[in-house]
Amino acid sequence: MDAIRVRGARELRGSIRVGGAKNAALPILCATLLSDGESRLRNVPGLRDIQTTSELLRTLGRGVTVDIPEVRVQAPRGQVVPEAPYELVRQMRASVLVLGPLLARYGRAKVSLPGGCQIGARPVDQHLLGLEVLGAKIVVEHGFIVAEAPRLRGGEVVFDIPTVTGTENLMLAAALSNGQTTLVNCAREPEIEELGRVLNKMGARVEGAGTSIIHIHGADELEPFDHAIIADRIEAGTFMAAVGAAGGDVLLEHAPLDDLEPVIVKLRRVGLEIEREGEHARVRRLGPLHSADVTTAPHPGFPTDMQAQFMAMMCVAEGRSVVTETVFENRFMHVPELGRMGARIQIHNNTAIIDGVGRLSGASVMATDLRASASLVVAGLVSEGETIVRRVYHLDRGYEAIEKKLAGAGADVTRIQLESEPA
Ligand code: EPU
Repeated sequence: MDAIRVRGARELRGSIRVGGAKNAALPILCATLLSDGESRLRNVPGLRDIQTTSELLRTLGRGVTVDIPEVRVQAPRGQVVPEAPYELVRQMRASVLVLGPLLARYGRAKVSLPGGCQIGARPVDQHLLGLEVLGAKIVVEHGFIVAEAPRLRGGEVVFDIPTVTGTENLMLAAALSNGQTTLVNCAREPEIEELGRVLNKMGARVEGAGTSIIHIHGADELEPFDHAIIADRIEAGTFMAAVGAAGGDVLLEHAPLDDLEPVIVKLRRVGLEIEREGEHARVRRLGPLHSADVTTAPHPGFPTDMQAQFMAMMCVAEGRSVVTETVFENRFMHVPELGRMGARIQIHNNTAIIDGVGRLSGASVMATDLRASASLVVAGLVSEGETIVRRVYHLDRGYEAIEKKLAGAGADVTRIQLESEPA
């Protein structure tokens, strides 16, 4: 069983390359279901979620060639069975993103319900309600979403809450629908804007992606595409938090600073210097870290996907910080593990109160979610002694070779083999 070993208390110095955005690549891979021919995605990160999506596309009859940082998806040969099985969907909730494209393209789809996960219940009701507005008949039976619509038609969908993959699923479906669709109260994340760019390359007309109202003029047929994925703002933000915790001076190559504005504002407030250097970013910690309060919110608020890493950094800041999580109901799983490393954190409902301590102490820890695992690596960088982060498969879902990237900036971080994994 792999684990990440971090020997802390060293500053970071050097450069780290930011890879392509996981949460942009996943819906774009699903967009390949909308056309024939061969699509080419460039700047794709080498992640387990990319492998899982590739496997899912193969199950759906596509030829998929993964040669990171490139993925090619070829049109189906023979008949397509538009069914996404439980074995794949349970590994990755974003698999539900095949629902919209399959329905639009093949008139029916059967997709396993993703179910809850560690960070919360995460229903998909908004996806289903939206697809029903476009004319789909949907039933949920035996753990599957079964949807049918001979030809989807445009309509007006008003989301009750902004949902990232919900907005994406509707954009994917509407792109191949008959007529115009308006989506209202959309999520505004940069990854949604990116999907809009790809759908436009394919021949749909998408206007307003990245704002709360999106108009989509559906096409009768869509073309394959060639596209380089934007850089991963959360990976970049995680490395910024690492510099914040450990100290030092790092050049983040291809850091998407504009997409990270809500995080950068807070990082500057706690004492980091972040400067644009061409398409890169120079990140430095000049003095001691100050405390700061953050509340997560949909974009352009502070991203929930950065909450755990920011909190790990705040564990060693001067004074008291308050972190409030409003997007997911159970996203404090890193807190007990940070506590085992000597952090002083109290939780009251969805708020964590962090009293900074000078330094943490290395321990054997594990987390059951991707960003929580990343926060333990950040904490390990500022700990005395050795930290062993177990259950690395969570990290591998969303960070490409995090140990190599950090080691390249002088950290003592390696992947090790453990004999056995505690239950
Ligand atoms: N929600 C509903 N009904 C729905 C859809 C969502 O109630 O039909 C609720 C969720 O339970 C949650 C809130 O709405 O409380 C927002 O969830 P959203 O749908 O926006 O999340 P998601 O699309 O499932 C994506 C990212 C997550 C990221 C969230 C929030 C992808 C593949 N995943 O998830 O990324 O945390 O948006 O920004 O884009 C990660 O990368 O570690 C990760 C978890």
